[in-house]
Amino acid sequence: MHALGRVLIIAGSDSGGGAGIQADVKTVTALGGYAATAITAVTVQNTLGVTGVHPIPLDVIAAQARAVLSDIGADAIKTGMLGDAATVALVAQLLDEAAVPAVIDPVMVAKGGASLLADAAVAAVRELLIPRAALLTPNAPETTALTGLAVETTDDLRRAGAALLAAGAGAVLMKGGHVPGPRVIDLLMTPDGETAFEGERIESRHTHGTGCTLASACAAGLAQGLPLTAAVARAWDYVHEAILRAPGFGAGHGPLDHGWPLREARARGRA
Ligand SMILES: Nc1ncnc2c1ncn2[C@@H]1O[C@H](COP(=O)(O)OP(=O)(O)OP(=O)(O)O)[C@@H](O)[C@H]1O
Ligand SMILES: [Mg+2]
Repeated sequence: MHALGRVLIIAGSDSGGGAGIQADVKTVTALGGYAATAITAVTVQNTLGVTGVHPIPLDVIAAQARAVLSDIGADAIKTGMLGDAATVALVAQLLDEAAVPAVIDPVMVAKGGASLLADAAVAAVRELLIPRAALLTPNAPETTALTGLAVETTDDLRRAGAALLAAGAGAVLMKGGHVPGPRVIDLLMTPDGETAFEGERIESRHTHGTGCTLASACAAGLAQGLPLTAAVARAWDYVHEAILRAPGFGAGHGPLDHGWPLREARARGRA
């Protein structure tokens, strides 16, 4: 374990910088950690949507991860867009080799509707990644795909979370962003109990990459040695402030303000 907190991120690139690898690197850095990457795909993307997906060959994904692990090392791994079942299987193998806590964000569909995981790969995520997850961070549609359970309410999230724990996840952060209502409620569930994270729903179209950002912030905390609940609490506050401060770029789902803690620290330095 290094005090800085080294996170190896295995995910896709978002040219727009709002989600994917770019959001992950910014998040880990803003929270004081060290980010390294194994890129699984290059997406052509802006706030309006995804217009191209170019998968990276499997052996190149593996080589990136092993180059990082064999030299720099990692205190936690965060996974995002994986694309297909073969990549999911490779990632399962890499997680076994690394033997550090893994935050698995089971990304399936981009905010604009583009598919980021083949339908046939959902079973591979269920069988190979859920049992290896220190923390699984599904949104409501992903929860339904993984469990077969409909999710319309917080109680539905709770029931599905129990099913995901039973399927082998160490902990689940059941995200309530897609559950309708004036408040957003995320549930952190472990075999020991439940912690709810709740706040006003922010009326904003600038929520591109909220999920990637939340999962990376959790991974940064675990890499830095924070207990799980403290890591999730810090991640939740970070994401919410980043939504509130979104710069308003682009005509579609705009990015968050990932850099806010850095600007805050600079302002404190001047005061
Ligand atoms: N409008 C909002 N107001 C407040 N919090 C939000 C809002 N939308 C999302 N969040 C929060 O952002 C985090 C991500 O949740 P969400 O369910 O949107 O994930 P996601 O669908 O995986 O995101 P993405 O589309 O970026 O992959 C959660 O902590 C959720 O509570
Ligand atoms: Mg997501």
